[in-house]
Amino acid sequence: MNPLKSFASDNNAPVHEAVFRAMKEANSGDAIGYGDDIHTMAAEQQIKELLGRDASVWFMLTGTGANVAGLAHITRPYHAIICSDKAHLENDECGAPEKMTGCKLIRLPSGDGKINASQIYPLLDSIGFPHHAQPRVISITQATELGTVYQLDEIKKIASFAREHGLYLHMDGARIANAAASLDVPLAEMTKHAGVDLLSFGGTKNGAMAAEALIFFNKELSEGFEYTRKQSMQLMSKMRYVSAQFSALFSGDLWLENARHANKMARILAGEIKQIRSVTITQKVETNAVFVTLPAKAIEKLQRKYFFYIWDARNHEVRWMTAYNTTEKDIDDFVSAIKEAAGE
Ligand SMILES: Cc1ncc(COP(=O)(O)O)c(C=O)c1O
Repeated sequence: MNPLKSFASDNNAPVHEAVFRAMKEANSGDAIGYGDDIHTMAAEQQIKELLGRDASVWFMLTGTGANVAGLAHITRPYHAIICSDKAHLENDECGAPEKMTGCKLIRLPSGDGKINASQIYPLLDSIGFPHHAQPRVISITQATELGTVYQLDEIKKIASFAREHGLYLHMDGARIANAAASLDVPLAEMTKHAGVDLLSFGGTKNGAMAAEALIFFNKELSEGFEYTRKQSMQLMSKMRYVSAQFSALFSGDLWLENARHANKMARILAGEIKQIRSVTITQKVETNAVFVTLPAKAIEKLQRKYFFYIWDARNHEVRWMTAYNTTEKDIDDFVSAIKEAAGE
């Protein structure tokens, strides 16, 4: 049963046709398992074309897996990982980062999902003090869980702060494509050249079925990651089907096209709902998420027709997300339904 159109998450979109086709094309004859196959080599090559030959690329199945395995690899259990209080790491990974790394997560308050160096600075007092977990990694999410985007200079600032103080910078890029489309800069500019050490690159929210990658820009840091990935249960035997998904996304810039489209749909939605008096947009609409408050009664009515999440029940804030498959007609229909539910 699938009666409702979803504005809940880009995770709810189907697999993109081209991705399915690529998986089907890969589904022919035998291929060596565990990534020693031509599809994996090709997909790795495509990523290296975007991010440089030195990038160390590891395909995985889930975003949580990429985040956690990557962080586990570059930390010891007495370290601390610093992130925003809105981070997926902190809120939506069921404690996996803490369980699998043994590290303490230090969450910093953030109104828009972003954190900055001045918030982190006081935590450096703990360095060298054996009673405190030792700050080791700063993890930022790009695009953030609130749909906002770190601008290039913000990434560079936090990266140079990290470097200056012996910390690593991890970027949770479950929606990196949406951020790249929003900033309109080459992927390498906003990651490698901006000073990111470790990137979780998301394909799943961008039209793939289960395709995530972990990318180390600091090659030394990746040493031994083949073992960590296996121990983290993210080494898929039939890897060709994961790699084929990436190849499809990187062919003809489908990954960017999908993200640009999803972002555009969110912009249109935001533009339309600005006219509705009882609806207030609560975050900058920079990617494919629109956060709004609206009367509780209107939410209830709307949820009879559409699937979406209540983000914060205390102030009736909801999240509406678009995806590569959202159409302008979907937006028109949704806006009409919002107006009706709001009595306008
Ligand atoms: C910001 C962010 N990071 C990571 C993930 C991890 O995704 P998965 O559900 O594939 O583990 C998500 C998924 O919603 C996400 O929104």
